[in-house]
Amino acid sequence: MAAERATMKKFKGDPEIAKALQEMRSRESAMSRLLMAFIGTGIFFMVFPGTLLGVWNLLQISGKEQGGAISASWVQAHGHAQVFGWIGSFLLGIGFYSIPKLKESAAKMIRAAWACWALWTLGVSLRWVSSVYLIEWRRLVPLGGALELTAFLIFFSIVSGHRPKDNPQSGLEPWVWVVMTATFGFLFSLVGNLVESIRVARHGTDPAFPHGFDQRYLALLGWGFLVPFVWGFSAKWMRVFLGLPALRRKYLKVTVACNLAGVGIALAGWFVAATALFLIAACLSIAAIRIFERNVQEPKTKGIHKSFPVFVRLAYVWLLIAASLGLAGNWLDTSGGFWGASRHALTVGFIATMVLAVGQRILPAFAGMRVLWSPRLMFAGLFLLTIGCSLRVSCEVLAYQGYAAWAWRVLPVSALVELTALSVFAANLVCTFVLQPSHAVNEPMMVALPQIATLGESR
Ligand code: HEM
Repeated sequence: MAAERATMKKFKGDPEIAKALQEMRSRESAMSRLLMAFIGTGIFFMVFPGTLLGVWNLLQISGKEQGGAISASWVQAHGHAQVFGWIGSFLLGIGFYSIPKLKESAAKMIRAAWACWALWTLGVSLRWVSSVYLIEWRRLVPLGGALELTAFLIFFSIVSGHRPKDNPQSGLEPWVWVVMTATFGFLFSLVGNLVESIRVARHGTDPAFPHGFDQRYLALLGWGFLVPFVWGFSAKWMRVFLGLPALRRKYLKVTVACNLAGVGIALAGWFVAATALFLIAACLSIAAIRIFERNVQEPKTKGIHKSFPVFVRLAYVWLLIAASLGLAGNWLDTSGGFWGASRHALTVGFIATMVLAVGQRILPAFAGMRVLWSPRLMFAGLFLLTIGCSLRVSCEVLAYQGYAAWAWRVLPVSALVELTALSVFAANLVCTFVLQPSHAVNEPMMVALPQIATLGESR
């Protein structure tokens, strides 16, 4: 630190260095603003079009005591807002932020990234409003899909122009491969959504995708897009964050191969084989990332709640539950209870728990070197999500399948607990962005110090 201060003092008056630093600062803050726009949009879609509609749907289903007794358009509008509006916006924002090239040749690419944000937000909004209120849906549902796909293609063209750093001995890092398959899963999900939206607009009676297509499409969304993203980020970050032993690279490759085979087979409609492969892939991913193994270094929990490693591991327990319920559903499901429970063990238990845990770990730092507003709220959100999801998954099987009538009365409680959990998460992130000071001003200085020193000494 003393050496850094001395370097700063030595080159403080140099105009060239001052200009370079100024450019670095404004680039960094432009990147943070972009990231916060994507995250803010994701939070909005999560709370209002996503979770509130999900809660409303569940209250209606519980009132009628029958799964599937409500509008399929509303159910799908909820799913679309959560998967694309929330998770999709978060992924695009983090994706743009992580591209080093974007940090270097900034201005033009940042403009393209803002165009992507605008088209994405408009596309997801049009899709939701037209599916829920049935306003001009034959035109607006496909238009929403087209805007989403265009926004993604802007992102894709920028990302594919960037080559990740590779390892001279072994090529690309294994986590990069996993994230690449997830990115293609994202792309195919958007293409599938657009094609089916056009078909439904021309031949359907309402905006809902037919049940047969929707089941296959959900397998693609869940296992082809969302799950591999979490595996990729886990492979990249969990060794450091949780202090785990080194990744088993070969296992990770087999995980991805097994999972891709599962997605392909599910799209062909062979669910028994597909769900068996998903369960095998889930077990292999756990062995590859070594998530349940004893840590060899201290977990990195500075600035966040100490329970972080517990919740990350719990998310992987949910992954196993989701895959097992999916497999069991092939024989036991009579009214959507097993499929629905499996889907929510995956989306809420695995995906949302990971986003709440890892999001609060990384996003404050990405958004202008801030510190999380409240580690206690982080714990409260994750704890409530775990309770809500446990009630939901267990009671969905019991109630929908007709095993226990009392479970219908628990489902609305589970929805309200999950709603509170996600609202607490949203509040903590918003307070972090709005109330916490940004330390980004000093950050470029620290990053730049080695270059400044060489620049100054070479003259
Ligand atoms: C408060 C939390 C939530 C509640 C109350 C809720 C409620 C519901 C309900 C009632 C359904 C209808 C199917 C069924 O009966 O199981 C459903 C479907 C679905 N939900 Fe959720 N949900 C919540 C959170 C989430 C999250 C966080 C995600 C994704 C990240 C998600 C994604 C989906 C998807 C993809 C579907 C299927 C849509 C379709 O059939 O196409 N949900 N949800």
